Amino acid sequence: MEALPKKKVAVKINGVEQTRAVEPRLLLVDFLRDVAGLTGTHVGCDTSICGACTVILNGTAVKSCTVLTVQADGADILTIEGLAQGEKLHPLQEAFWECHGLQCGFCTPGMILSAYQLLKRNPQPTEAEIRHALDGNLCRCTGYQHIVDAVRMAAKRMKRKANGKKKAIGSGQKAGPEGRRR
Ligand code: FES
Ligand code: FES
Repeated sequence: MEALPKKKVAVKINGVEQTRAVEPRLLLVDFLRDVAGLTGTHVGCDTSICGACTVILNGTAVKSCTVLTVQADGADILTIEGLAQGEKLHPLQEAFWECHGLQCGFCTPGMILSAYQLLKRNPQPTEAEIRHALDGNLCRCTGYQHIVDAVRMAAKRMKRKANGKKKAIGSGQKAGPEGRRR
């Protein structure tokens, strides 16, 4: 295929600014994997069905195989690599691990980022709401019950942590990184 003239694109990925020249037809998922080297974003279908390529783009979960990189110019992008804080996993990552919410793990980055958006918008979702939020993400291994359990566990822990922080602020004490009082 003939190369097209490249366009300059600047994005912030997991807090790091990147400026690259890309072909206008380059999909965001291919940019993330092949140009930025962030291979935690997976390609399961390329036809916007599986959700394995889900990332957070300007605060919204999107299937990155449906977005051109040039459309993301100026955007703030969160991929699965940006979710943990150093060695400390995000509560969703811990809960997927503890609830056995994965087998091969291929769907997991997309599942977790869709769940991340859900918990931002609705911190205490019902089981039906979790299933609805994840209905654009397919898993070929686990069945979905353990995934739903993981999201519920993460929601509970995140709520506890948020309540701990509120109490600490209310009593004038500083909360530590886990909401524990120092
Ligand atoms: Fe994007 Fe399947 S690879 S939805
Ligand atoms: Fe294998 Fe979901 S864990 S596809």
